Amino acid sequence: MQLIATSYQSQTLSGDALVLPMLDGKLWNHDFVNNIDQKMGKLISQLITKAKFPHKKGENKLFVTHDKIPFDYVLVYSLGDAKKLTYEQLRIAANQCIKVLRRLNVSKIVSALTLTADNFQAQELGSAICEGSLLGSYEFHPYKSKQERKPLPKQITYLLNKLAPAAFNKGISKGKILCEAVCLSRDLCNTPADDKYPKKLAEIAKKIKGLRTRVFHETELKKMGMNGILSVGRGSQHAPVFVEMIYKPKKSKKVVAIVGKGVTFDSGGLSLKPPKGMEDMKEDMSGAGNTIAIMQAIAALKPNVEVRGYFPSAENMPSGTALKPGDVYKAYNGTTVEVLNTDAEGRLILGDALAYVCERKPDVLIDMATLTGACLVALGELYAGVLGNDKKLMQDIINCGEHYGEKIWELPLAEEYEDEIKSTIADIKNVGGSYGGTINGALFLKQFIKNTKWAHVDIAGPSATKKELGYCPKGCTGFMVRTVVKYILEQE
Ligand code: BES
Ligand code: ZN
Ligand code: ZN
Repeated sequence: MQLIATSYQSQTLSGDALVLPMLDGKLWNHDFVNNIDQKMGKLISQLITKAKFPHKKGENKLFVTHDKIPFDYVLVYSLGDAKKLTYEQLRIAANQCIKVLRRLNVSKIVSALTLTADNFQAQELGSAICEGSLLGSYEFHPYKSKQERKPLPKQITYLLNKLAPAAFNKGISKGKILCEAVCLSRDLCNTPADDKYPKKLAEIAKKIKGLRTRVFHETELKKMGMNGILSVGRGSQHAPVFVEMIYKPKKSKKVVAIVGKGVTFDSGGLSLKPPKGMEDMKEDMSGAGNTIAIMQAIAALKPNVEVRGYFPSAENMPSGTALKPGDVYKAYNGTTVEVLNTDAEGRLILGDALAYVCERKPDVLIDMATLTGACLVALGELYAGVLGNDKKLMQDIINCGEHYGEKIWELPLAEEYEDEIKSTIADIKNVGGSYGGTINGALFLKQFIKNTKWAHVDIAGPSATKKELGYCPKGCTGFMVRTVVKYILEQE
């Protein structure tokens, strides 16, 4: 799908479909549109005045033109109240228009875009339209034997009246980079566990150009004392890994580190999950998928910020060699951990990773993990929880999320509950009491943070969706990829 913007200069336009957006219940009052309406026997304007179409945002009407104009179809789409319009609504609208037209096998689309610079920046708008279009059209089909859906349109030309096409097109290019990253994260997460074991994830990470990537395998992990990662991986046929991906520009004022949970399948280990609870556990590496994706986007966008991406990856399986409830191991930072529930494994692999990253003193550290089912209980499927030791960092992440419709809500890193993870025979244990599971998980991670501004984002809810949500199809979402990239770009 090729997206391109141009300014309207009374050129003759043609294509398979023309999209006319409406703002405040009105069409673009312009010769171009008035002419189309005239040629269509005023069908469009009559529908608006007589039938009082449209009533609300998102409503749309398709006209067949019977060759009266050089387009087969006209799609009139209501964007609602101009003052209330946001980038996020434009992403949703772009996706909806493509969905309607795709069913008609439309290949070449021209879309008027009558927004002004008062409320929208051309570059940001270009990116938003691109995101809605490409992310909404995402499909995961490597395991389908037949192509089920109609092909995507080949070309969409956006006709601008007030905004600069050059800036809009620059936004499209940036949007493409973001979308490729989000789709990479979705692909990795949607892939069955058999096809994305830890070493495979490491190989994928290594292929990304413009980064210095290092993979720590079992022997190195043993030498380093990364026993949290080794413990979780010990019951599986697939050895665990720890991956470091460094983007280092010539000049940078700040170092941002990101860490993602990479459990390629979470059976629960010997504390085995029930069958239903295991169905989606190939998705337990979405933090790592996001990390790989973010690093790919950063390598392409080349900001003046040093970015270090890390992911510990293991498959959590029950077997004769698996970690047992009651076992104790010594973590990378020397803390001894009693494992009472092998299903609380994310925190064990992340503990080693966080301690390693803090030793290298980044300015900020953001981790993303499908860490606790309790986060779904607390915030539902749409919200991620954020906990950490730095208010500004957390608020910045929440704000970046808001721009993309990625909802993140702060939960307290309540030190009052820290006693719950004290162990009788070791320093700490990996589970707390029955309540506040997300807080307990974060408090466990906190034991591995040293002198670093840190935010932990629990993405157990929004990392995947059971139903289509706006421009996010069913399955893995890539939630947090755009948000973290935006945060990084703002550190320049
Ligand atoms: N990967 C799960 C958390 C999860 C559950 C993510 C559902 C997405 C959807 C995690 O490893 C886990 O099993 N956590 C346990 C922790 C408990 C044993 C303290 C949980 O949430 O039940
Ligand atoms: Zn688990
Ligand atoms: Zn898990």
